[in-house]
Amino acid sequence: MHPILVLNGPNLHLLGERETKVYGSLTLDEINNRLVVIGKELELDVRCMQSNSEGALIDMLHAASGWSKGVVFNPGGYTHTSVALRDAIAGIVVPVIEVHLSNVHAREEFRRHSYLSPVCIGVITGFGWHSYKLGLRALADYLENN
Ligand code: DQA
Repeated sequence: MHPILVLNGPNLHLLGERETKVYGSLTLDEINNRLVVIGKELELDVRCMQSNSEGALIDMLHAASGWSKGVVFNPGGYTHTSVALRDAIAGIVVPVIEVHLSNVHAREEFRRHSYLSPVCIGVITGFGWHSYKLGLRALADYLENN
C-alpha cells in the first residue's frame, strides 16, 4: 500500500453547505471516507488533511514529501494566488496532482489561471467529488509506471 495524502485548502471544510450548486452536497468528511475506500481498491493508503492557512499547507506538503508517495491536492482559492505553494510543490520530490470540484475554466476569468498547474504532474477539474477519485486513479497509474 502506497501512503497518499489527499490535501484540501481553504474553505473546503465547508463543502456540503458552501455554494452547493457549484461544489455539490457532499461534506468533506463524506468525500474523504469514500476516497479511503477507493484508495484501498487501488492499493493506496489514503490520509486526508485540510487547512485554511497557506503556511500550514506548505508545511503539510513538505512533510508529505517524507512520508507519502504522492499528493492529490485541491488548493482552493490559493490555486489562483499562491507563488509560495507553487514553490513548495516544485521543491518536493513526490508527485502532486491538482484537482478541482468545479470546472475552473468555465467560471470567472480569474479562476482560469493556476500558479500550481505547471509544477503538478497533471490537473483534473470539473467532475465534482469524482475529480478526487480520478486523481487517485491517475496517481496509482503514475506510481505503477514511474
Ligand atoms: C475550487 C475552485 C477554486 O477556484 C475555488 O477558489 C475553490 C474550489 C474547486 O474545487 O472547484 O475554493 O478549487
